[in-house]
Amino acid sequence: MLICDSALMEIPFSDNPFRDGQISRRSPEPCALVIFGATGDLTRRKLVPAIYNLAHEGQLPAGFAIVAFARRPKTTEEFRAEMRAAVEQFSRFPLNAGVWDALAAGIVYHRSEFAAPEEYAALRETLAQLDRRRNTSGRRLFYLACAPSEFATVIEQLGAAGLVEPRGPQRIIVEKPFGTDLPSARELNRVVTGVFDESQVFRIDHYLGKETVQNILSLRFANAIFEPLWNQKYVDHVQITVAESLGVETRGAFYERAGALRDMVSNHMMQLLALTAMESPSSLAAEDIRNEKVKLLRAIRPISPASVGDCTVCGQYARGTIGGKLVAGYRDEPNVAPDSATETYVALHLHLDNWRWAGVPFYLRHGKRLPKQTAEIAVQFKPSPPVLFAAASAVPLQPNVLALRIQPDEGIAIRMNAKVPGTTLNIQPVKMDFPYGGSFGDSSPDAYERLLHDAIADDSTLFLRGDEVECTWALTDSIRAGWETNRAEPAFYEAGSWGPREADEMLERDGRQWRRP
Ligand code: BG6
Repeated sequence: MLICDSALMEIPFSDNPFRDGQISRRSPEPCALVIFGATGDLTRRKLVPAIYNLAHEGQLPAGFAIVAFARRPKTTEEFRAEMRAAVEQFSRFPLNAGVWDALAAGIVYHRSEFAAPEEYAALRETLAQLDRRRNTSGRRLFYLACAPSEFATVIEQLGAAGLVEPRGPQRIIVEKPFGTDLPSARELNRVVTGVFDESQVFRIDHYLGKETVQNILSLRFANAIFEPLWNQKYVDHVQITVAESLGVETRGAFYERAGALRDMVSNHMMQLLALTAMESPSSLAAEDIRNEKVKLLRAIRPISPASVGDCTVCGQYARGTIGGKLVAGYRDEPNVAPDSATETYVALHLHLDNWRWAGVPFYLRHGKRLPKQTAEIAVQFKPSPPVLFAAASAVPLQPNVLALRIQPDEGIAIRMNAKVPGTTLNIQPVKMDFPYGGSFGDSSPDAYERLLHDAIADDSTLFLRGDEVECTWALTDSIRAGWETNRAEPAFYEAGSWGPREADEMLERDGRQWRRP
């Protein structure tokens, strides 16, 4: 169904208020963003508010347009009104009528099934009109915000309708999850690269859009003091924690099929690991950074069914109390089987078989219904030699720790030892803390703002490459296979606790313990 785009002419291109906006990196060219599955939650909560924020900051190219492609019957006016309400509710900046009206003038709703070839011909016509009216010149960003089961259909239809030129100015943004295991990720890679060149494919992991995640590389490579210590000579171990206090909420049906390993570990946590441990790239170009990440992911020692029991723990939350409130166990959540064996907690003990990290354990953990929402990377250094203060102190000296707080209260803290003022020799740990908020003030852009900005500017640095996704699935598939072979059942943990006892034991076997972030 072709929707007349007369509204697109409401604001002439030359008067577009986005035109003189400040562009933070490359100057993006006008383009059309086609969102497949535009009536879903992602569009309402994240995509359109992020686009609005970019418009508000003057970071959208002139002529920017959105085609909302979805199945529900709706007019363009209705869709615009819904998106205005979404911006009022979810945007970082309060709604400014002038900015919204200019943005809304470029929004068109296109009702369609995903598998209807004639609708893609109609879409081509809508886009051709946008080219004429808003000077988008064939530049398209196709955004797969629909159900993953529709990804292949949409990609194939785009190809069949001639909407993609080989190495042309069209890009495709693929939302998470990119497959559910290695075979399905390979198949999706095959489908997407059958229509688009790899350079046209932007695979999303929204953690890469987070300011503090990007700051891992700045901390490591914009400072000379850390990198010399960042290796097996000085680092005792690394802990990466992503804890959530929320449960599965309304996503029980999805989560039953995913579980914590697929939902968080194979993507977000692997990205945190890769950025923390990779070698220095030879430049900040997307390919150089992605090459180093892939090299690092390939260095993760495979986990066999024989080792899975020692180096992984899976758990599931049972009823408990968080913030003084009694919360249901996972099996009592809506759309969850009463005997579900899906894991809501995972802890891993990984080894990286490369020169830099040989012998340094990397402990990763993620869980839902933990005591608080927090994500951090903590690098614990080796203890001081057992002489001088370490020898004289009545209690063992605490080792130095460099902690990168990803969220909330983003910042960097260093734990060191200092003498307590007084006449006795009393050494105690103190914290040197750098909070982002306190130093840089402004609220950081949402991850989707940064990712959409970069996709519009054709910068793929913060997106995943096909081989990267395959590497991480290979690891998590081997863990699942190990669990299945060993018939491992998740260990229960009380909601509001820090996870199952088995996860503590895994570190205690190595003489270590989890931090309490
Ligand atoms: C999503 C997962 O990818 O990331 C969710 O599907 C999880 O289960 C979310 O809650 C966490 O993201 P953030 O940005 O809130 O840490």
